[in-house]
Amino acid sequence: MAQGLSLLMTASFDSALTAPAVARNRDLILAVLREVLAAPGTVLEIASGSGEHAVHFASALPHLVWQPTDPDAQARRSIAAHAAQARLPNLLPPLELDAAAAVWPVTQADAVVSINMIHIAPWAAAEGLLAGAARLLPAGSPLYLYGPYREHGRHTAPSNAAFDESLRARDPAWGVRDLDEVAALAARHGFALERTVAMPANNLSVVFRRNP
Ligand SMILES: C[S@@+](CC[C@H](N)C(=O)[O-])C[C@H]1O[C@@H](n2cnc3c(N)ncnc32)[C@H](O)[C@@H]1O
Repeated sequence: MAQGLSLLMTASFDSALTAPAVARNRDLILAVLREVLAAPGTVLEIASGSGEHAVHFASALPHLVWQPTDPDAQARRSIAAHAAQARLPNLLPPLELDAAAAVWPVTQADAVVSINMIHIAPWAAAEGLLAGAARLLPAGSPLYLYGPYREHGRHTAPSNAAFDESLRARDPAWGVRDLDEVAALAARHGFALERTVAMPANNLSVVFRRNP
């Protein structure tokens, strides 16, 4: 199991993993996604982890086709296990996808969603995420990110600073990213920062929009 996954998840004796944070954040994220993903289309989720978000969002947003992905084989088994229980017609089988890869195994999407990934991966994963979203998404499409961020070089809460320290202790290439740096990276790839939404536990929903 990838380190980022093992950090935050517990496995039951079948393949379905449970990430306790998902139960706390999924409905609040869903409320934002209802606005951001109002139009029908295919959503590519990067770093689906346990797959619990994918099932929750595909179930609540039947006008969308949801494509979960994760580079980690155990995560993909968990996504498949949750999907098998849910039996949703608009939830596709998980794909192996490393955001940092130069080629993604997907040729079409109308939106990209990535929750709690860019701080639990090297910066190259954030660079790859923006490059891949730019390759894939048509003008006007949304890119939705969720997670903790520094703002203007500062942590927004002591808990985020402590989390950042714990991430960097596990892997010096990980860490809570600065929103300014992520927005600058996004701008280089043709995405404008549309809005941020404050979320519980000092997280942010960050919505980018592909430039026309
Ligand atoms: C903390 S988990 C978040 C999972 C899920 N999105 C959630 O919020 O519960 C981080 C996930 O990022 C994935 N990940 C790590 N590096 C990645 C990369 N380079 N590209 C895509 N996913 C990556 C891990 O496999 C793991 O599933």
